[in-house]
Amino acid sequence: MTFERLSALIDKEIGRLQFNSRPENLYEPMAYMLGLGGKRIRPLLVLLGYSLFKNDPEKITKSALAVEVFHNFTLMHDDILDKAPLRRGQPSVHEKWNESTAILSGDTMMIRAYELLENVAPEYLPSALRLFNQCAVEVCEGQQMDMNYEQQEEVSEQEYLEMIRLKTAVLLGFSLQLGGLLAGANEKSQLQLRELGIYLGMAFQLMDDHLDTFGNTGTFGKHIGGDILANKKTLLLISALALSNSENQARLADWLRQITFNDQDKIDGVKSIYKECGVEKISHEKIQSYESHALGVLKSLDGDESIKDMIEKYLYKLKQRVE
Ligand code: IPE
Ligand code: IPE
Ligand code: MG
Ligand code: MG
Ligand code: MG
Repeated sequence: MTFERLSALIDKEIGRLQFNSRPENLYEPMAYMLGLGGKRIRPLLVLLGYSLFKNDPEKITKSALAVEVFHNFTLMHDDILDKAPLRRGQPSVHEKWNESTAILSGDTMMIRAYELLENVAPEYLPSALRLFNQCAVEVCEGQQMDMNYEQQEEVSEQEYLEMIRLKTAVLLGFSLQLGGLLAGANEKSQLQLRELGIYLGMAFQLMDDHLDTFGNTGTFGKHIGGDILANKKTLLLISALALSNSENQARLADWLRQITFNDQDKIDGVKSIYKECGVEKISHEKIQSYESHALGVLKSLDGDESIKDMIEKYLYKLKQRVE
């Protein structure tokens, strides 16, 4: 089994997805969103988790796709919440169509995700559903906390970490655990897989927040500075508010309060404060710490050693996103 083969299995299965044709503006955004690609990390994690214990991943590609379709639904709605104009380098669905369409298409995608999950072997369906439902509710909780924090002046690092655990990390945890569950792995291995995914997800969202400020649109595919414009309480902002000198603290507080401003001025202004007080280093250290936790769990996992190597290589590949 090679990584490329697992990846090809997912691409092929996504290519096979059929959508109804009418109403066109309900189904086209779904095909559009999935057609924009993305890294397809989550279904890969399902297949990797499964492959640790069984070597016929083609049996579960439809179930793996459930997670990717669910993820794309969350992105469609997330772009409305975040007023984000770009997704994967192209106009987001609510920009290309409108908000009502993005809401309804997203809803339909979520239901399609459940349909895909129906493909799990019957003996695993109750557990798969229970885990999926728990995770889906947590994603909504995290997203609501993310929105609340835009308005909340003081957000602690701990609150931020709990918010990203919910909105992002639990879905990566679920993906790996689902793979283990469907391969018949024992409870202990399943929980380790979930833990590994959660550590990976924490590092991943921290990186995403870093790139939202310091990345470039060409490779990141999103509008750089969107988090700054929305007053997202990222670790960068929380650390800058805590650690910068009093002059910069006042400047930051001022940017957070401004109602009318030139977007680029705010992005440049906040970014220069981040640079001055060195918060990038703090966020990098946090990423490192979650990555080493993830590697620690990976080492202690049971399962095929060659797949463990593959997972380790994949973790390094994802990490390169940031450097
Ligand atoms: C974006 O997820 C949302 C976050 C959790 C940061 P991805 O970075 O996995 O998005 P795609 O699917 O590869 O576009
Ligand atoms: C997204 O977090 C988490 C979910 C979609 C649930 P972000 O809002 O940071 O994701 P991007 O940056 O828009 O992809
Ligand atoms: Mg967003
Ligand atoms: Mg968001
Ligand atoms: Mg982001």
